[in-house]
Amino acid sequence: MGDEARIELVVNGRPAVVAAGRSDTLLDLLRDRLGLTGVKNGCAQGDCGCCTVLLEGRPAKACMTPARKAAGKRVTTIEGLADGQPHPLQQAFVEAGGVQCGYCTPGQILAAKALLDGNPAPTREEVLQGLSSVLCRCTGYLRIADAVLLAAARMRGESAEVRHATSRAGLSVVGRPFELRGAT
Ligand code: FES
Ligand code: FES
Repeated sequence: MGDEARIELVVNGRPAVVAAGRSDTLLDLLRDRLGLTGVKNGCAQGDCGCCTVLLEGRPAKACMTPARKAAGKRVTTIEGLADGQPHPLQQAFVEAGGVQCGYCTPGQILAAKALLDGNPAPTREEVLQGLSSVLCRCTGYLRIADAVLLAAARMRGESAEVRHATSRAGLSVVGRPFELRGAT
């Protein structure tokens, strides 16, 4: 295409040079040009957060980020998190049952990484708030928060095991608010 420009960026610690058209998004670039299909396309219009990656260490919705805006920047996808073994967040999501269909999981984990990078000891409320831009249709969020709190404890050097929350307090801050009907 005539409007394509070559852009340089660093993806998961490695330099990449990619052709990007004016209308290409970072999601197009990562999935279609670089084959990083861990970046999910849930809605392609900025609503679900499944496409969340880290851009210069901060969560960004790849479907809403023009590819050319990533020129010269560092991008981290879920493929870049493990370092020979699963990242503590990845491990904790498995142990705590924070994964069901898995479609939101890469975005959840990357949003959680950004949260823990800035706040290594968040409260449950802060975790729910920090992940509020990534919708999950399956889990009800409790076990996602359990997973993040578990990983946070381990990353602080504490010995921690899965401990599931029994309260649904705070759910309204994740995604769209809803009411529990018939709950006692
Ligand atoms: S795919 Fe980007 S917000 Fe839904
Ligand atoms: S695990 Fe299915 S959307 Fe979150």
